[in-house]
Amino acid sequence: MRIPILAGNWKMNKTAAEAVALVNTMKDELLAVKSVERVLCPPFLAVPDVSHLVAGTEIKVGAQDLYWEKSGAFTGEVAPNMVAEFCQYVIIGHSERREYFSETDACVNKKIKAALAVGLIPIVCVGESLSLRQEGRTESWIIGQVKAALDGLTAEQVAGLVIAYEPIWAIGTGLAATADEAERVCGQVVRKTIADVCGDAVAQAIRVQYGGSVKASNALELMGKPDIDGALVGGASLNASEFVSIVKSSAQAKGLS
Ligand code: 13P
Repeated sequence: MRIPILAGNWKMNKTAAEAVALVNTMKDELLAVKSVERVLCPPFLAVPDVSHLVAGTEIKVGAQDLYWEKSGAFTGEVAPNMVAEFCQYVIIGHSERREYFSETDACVNKKIKAALAVGLIPIVCVGESLSLRQEGRTESWIIGQVKAALDGLTAEQVAGLVIAYEPIWAIGTGLAATADEAERVCGQVVRKTIADVCGDAVAQAIRVQYGGSVKASNALELMGKPDIDGALVGGASLNASEFVSIVKSSAQAKGLS
C-alpha cells in the first residue's frame, strides 16, 4: 500500500514570519491526520523556521528547488546539502521553473541525482501545456519527461521518488483536470512509463501525485482514484483550513483514518 503524500507548494509566497504564523494555524490539525504524509514547501528563506517549528513531528519540509553542484561560485543558488540540512523533500522541475527559468529535462535529471545523493526525496514535476493537450500530444510529452527524469537512476532510486503530474493548464486556473483525466495520466501514462522502464514492482511502489487547482471541494474525488497517491497543492495550501481539508479528504478517500 502506497502512503498518500500531500504537499503544499507555497511558491513565492510568505515571508519567514508569515510562514511561521501559517504553520501555527494548521500544525495541530495536520498532525491529527496521521495516515497520510504531510509536507510543507515554503520559500527558501522560510525553510529553517518552518523546519524548526515542525521538528520532531510527522510533518515534513520540502524545498522548491536546488542546484546540482555541491558548492562554489554559483551566485544565488542553493546546494543540495544546504537543502538537506532542513528538508526531507525537494520539488524538482516544476513547470514554473521550466517555463520562467529555462530548466530543461537534462537539468531536471541532474537535480534529481544531486538530491538523491544527499538523501532528499525528489518530487519530480511533469505536465503538458494547453497547446500540447489540444494537439493531442499529452501522452508522448509526459512519457518523454518521465523517461528523461529517470535517466541513469537505479530501479531502487526510482521506486523512492514522488512524481507530480501537474497539467500546466490546470495550475492556478481553478480548472482542475477531472478525476478521470488525472487518473488516466497518473496511471496509464506516468505509472505505465515507469513500468516499461523499471518494471512493475517499481511502478507499483512509486507515488504519483496530481497537482493543478486541487482544493477542498475537489480533493475527495481526485484522491479517491487508485493511481493518484496524493496531491501537490499550490494556492489552496496557503489557506490553513483549505489545506487541512484536502489532507483530511485524501485520508478519507483512501479509506484511512
Ligand atoms: P495550484 O494548486 O495553485 O493550481 O498550483 C499547483 C501547483 O503548481 C503546485 O505545485
